[in-house]
Amino acid sequence: MTLSETIPIFASYFIFEFLFMKKIVVALDGNSGCGKSSTAKVLARKLKFIYIDTGAMYRAVTLFFLKNHIDLKNDLDVEQALKEIDISFQYNMESGKNETFLNGKNVEREIRKMEVSNLVSPVSEISRVRRKLVEQQRRLGEGNSVVMDGRDIGTVVFPNADLKIFMTAELEVRAFRRQKELKEQGTLVELQDVIDNLKKRDEIDSSRDDSPLKKADDAHVIDTSKLTFDEQVDQILDLIHEKIGIA
Ligand code: DC
Repeated sequence: MTLSETIPIFASYFIFEFLFMKKIVVALDGNSGCGKSSTAKVLARKLKFIYIDTGAMYRAVTLFFLKNHIDLKNDLDVEQALKEIDISFQYNMESGKNETFLNGKNVEREIRKMEVSNLVSPVSEISRVRRKLVEQQRRLGEGNSVVMDGRDIGTVVFPNADLKIFMTAELEVRAFRRQKELKEQGTLVELQDVIDNLKKRDEIDSSRDDSPLKKADDAHVIDTSKLTFDEQVDQILDLIHEKIGIA
């Protein structure tokens, strides 16, 4: 084989390697209860990316604070508590889901309870908490192709994400879906209580000083109010295909 024949083979090998090795970040932000987590989970499975639920991390910190009666206004208590918190994820083969572990204990179900939902936004307002979790989120994203969902992924955690999606839906639609989800997990909650919780969380999440929930300038907005679950997944897959050239 001559040199001129070998060069194109090497060149295509390196192009393939580059494309294959490129780590992709898909950032999925939006209001509470608009289906980010379920969508992100399916996207990650289809793309063979890692799914990171950053809301679960704020929920795990909240659970720790609740259990240990941490006063959110006491900086020293908060600082000390954060040193004692270790959050990790483990894939459960049976459920096919990534589950959240707090200091080695599976807390996946506990963190979804209303008492955690009612305190998670005030906890997420604390800059110390955000600093610790954002650092871990960036580490989790390093060297991996990920779908990460949250409130500040496209604006703060990964401002250079390859694709940014901002999901939203009407409040009542979101509340109805969340109530159904809770019911499937065995928890009955009045629709009005879910509406109040989502509304309050949206307000706190969007108005806090540190990393408020807002659409990144370059994010694509998807309103899921009138979309079926499959339609919302397909819309995002189309965008991934269009922007990144995969899926
Ligand atoms: O996605 P979720 O509903 O499980 O998130 C719970 C709360 O965590 C949400 O009300 C705000 C907070 N959160 C945040 O401040 N930043 C993130 N990246 C993810 C969640």
